[in-house]
Amino acid sequence: MLGQTRIHALRGIDLEIMPGEFLAIWGPSGSGKSTLMNMLGLIDAPDAGSIVFDGEAVAALSDDALSDRRNRKIGFVFQNFNLVPVLNALENVMLPLQLQDVAKREAAARAMEWLDKVGIAHLRGFRPDHLSGGQRQRVAIARALVAHPHLVIADEPTANLDSRTSHEVIDLMEKLNEKTGVTCVFTTHDPRLLERVPRQLRLSDGRISADSYTEGKSR
Ligand SMILES: Nc1ncnc2c1ncn2[C@@H]1O[C@H](COP(=O)(O)OP(=O)(O)O)[C@@H](O)[C@H]1O
Ligand SMILES: [Mg+2]
Repeated sequence: MLGQTRIHALRGIDLEIMPGEFLAIWGPSGSGKSTLMNMLGLIDAPDAGSIVFDGEAVAALSDDALSDRRNRKIGFVFQNFNLVPVLNALENVMLPLQLQDVAKREAAARAMEWLDKVGIAHLRGFRPDHLSGGQRQRVAIARALVAHPHLVIADEPTANLDSRTSHEVIDLMEKLNEKTGVTCVFTTHDPRLLERVPRQLRLSDGRISADSYTEGKSR
């Protein structure tokens, strides 16, 4: 609610995302991208309608069960990277594993593997403020993937990056999607990033105005 006016951030959304898909959601500012992502990420619930995640009706889950599903099954990547400033790159990537009570040595070893996969193993000892935007987003992607989620949700992951770095970040997500089979959904307001991706959803005023597959891209 905004004052007395009810805002319908989303309406009439009917969306099915299959395991292993790589999907981009495009739409102008205010079109409902973040609202939809928060629902896919089990952070917000719709006022009406239902969400089924990995075969479970989300409305039936307790708050504890919801946090459990978020921690175990979903990796988040944010526009502002959301790294912990006092922790170095390695320690940031270790965090989700430590939340799951993985022993420190094992967490460090697995986090190292992921820093290597995203190409910045050599920067493991650096804190976020000593990394470039592109490097920070690589740390954030490693952190999102380290605990083997089923779904990675990236809300405007390239909004604070220059065009070349943006393409590199999408390249990286695409590679990880192909290699690990993790389902990836990202939002962007940059139409040029859409062409890169096999499935493209367009949002306008809270509605899906197009849902298309690019021919010729096999996966
Ligand atoms: N907390 C809120 N209170 C009121 N309106 C909101 C709130 N969050 C988002 N909105 C409104 O919902 C609509 C969709 O917002 P959002 O999902 O953030 O869009 P996008 O991410 O595409 O920019 C917009 O009209 C926005 O103003
Ligand atoms: Mg947004």
